[in-house]
Amino acid sequence: MASLHQRITAMVRTLFPFLLLFVVGATATASASSGARRPLFREYIGAEGKNVTFADVPVHPGVDFHFILSFAIDYAVDAANASAPPQPTDGRFVVYWDEANLTPAAVAAAKHRGGGSADNKNNVRVALSLGGDTVHGANATFRASSVDAWVANAVASLTEILTTYGLDGIDVDYEHFGERETPEVFAECVGRLVRALRALGVISFASVAPFANPDVQAHYGELWRRYGREFDYVNFQFYAYAANTTVAEFLGYYNEQSSRYAGGGGKVLVGFGTDPASNGLGPGKGFFRACRELRRQGRLHGVFVWAADNSAADGFRYERVAQRFLAGAAPGFT
Ligand SMILES: *[C@@H]1O[C@H](CO)[C@@H](O)[C@H](O)[C@H]1NC(C)=O
Ligand SMILES: *[C@@H]1O[C@H](CO)[C@@H](O)[C@H](O)[C@H]1NC(C)=O
Ligand SMILES: *[C@@H]1O[C@H](CO)[C@@H](O)[C@H](O)[C@H]1NC(C)=O
Ligand SMILES: *[C@@H]1O[C@H](CO)[C@@H](O)[C@H](O)[C@H]1NC(C)=O
Repeated sequence: MASLHQRITAMVRTLFPFLLLFVVGATATASASSGARRPLFREYIGAEGKNVTFADVPVHPGVDFHFILSFAIDYAVDAANASAPPQPTDGRFVVYWDEANLTPAAVAAAKHRGGGSADNKNNVRVALSLGGDTVHGANATFRASSVDAWVANAVASLTEILTTYGLDGIDVDYEHFGERETPEVFAECVGRLVRALRALGVISFASVAPFANPDVQAHYGELWRRYGREFDYVNFQFYAYAANTTVAEFLGYYNEQSSRYAGGGGKVLVGFGTDPASNGLGPGKGFFRACRELRRQGRLHGVFVWAADNSAADGFRYERVAQRFLAGAAPGFT
């Protein structure tokens, strides 16, 4: 395996300038030919073992819909002792989302589901998210023996998963960091990974998912300073703020995080949680009032939700509200 990793890394280094030109050219062509852009709606799915499927989730034909599979993690279970906590693998990722329901065939079906007119087909894309809060109840802490080793392992293992599942993008959601895994180490590992995956043509978009915590912001802030142009979206976890957040406070947080993550390639999206553990400004408590104000200012870049697994219980009520809100006058759910 080591030699495969080295070959891929060497190939990325050699071909990078050429591949970058190719990728940039392809992106420009694709957006020119697909006409007006639809509003963006994104939803995490698969982390909680609740048997939620892509087909369960309502998809409005008037939005660009991203499912985000949660999670791929570079931790492995000890085959000899299933009750021992999973151990870090230095960038060798494995699938921890609900593999029984969220299969490669299910991804293909979700992406072809489309909706509405011929124009509206293929409004669904699917990404995976890296890390997450915990793995089998323990912190999914970011660990790397060295930048080169982690990147080589991550490029090889994620290329395999992304191509097997036919995925389109990645999201970065590490929430805990080792003491040796400084902001600089994290930035180089993740930044070089995303650049390599783009150059190999296995992803066409990337996002980060930070929240308001000093250590988390230090790590993602350094990533943004060094590699912000590699990212399209910031799924800022507004639902990690206090449960008594007002609309005015929410708009203040939005301004603060938008200036923190300015100057890269990405835009801060607003999000709410349907997880009982989520806080922040809820969809029943003014979230959409805040969205209306941002849209009035021309600053609403999209909405994301954590998570489909929890929303199934009330029939995805707020996913419907959010997508209708985003789609405006576009024809509705089929
Ligand atoms: C999910 O499906 C599996 C297989 O059908 C079943 O054993 C399990 O109990 C289900 N879990 C939930 C939370 O519904
Ligand atoms: C398996 O792991 C558990 C939890 O870490 C530990 O208590 C137990 O001793 C281990 N068993 C063996 C056979 O190593
Ligand atoms: C998990 O990480 C948080 C910080 O991100 C830390 O405060 C907590 O102690 C960690 N838990 C364990 C069990 O290591
Ligand atoms: C909101 O909740 C936080 C704790 O989550 C508390 O410290 C703060 O005082 C509360 N603010 C108001 C205005 O109630």
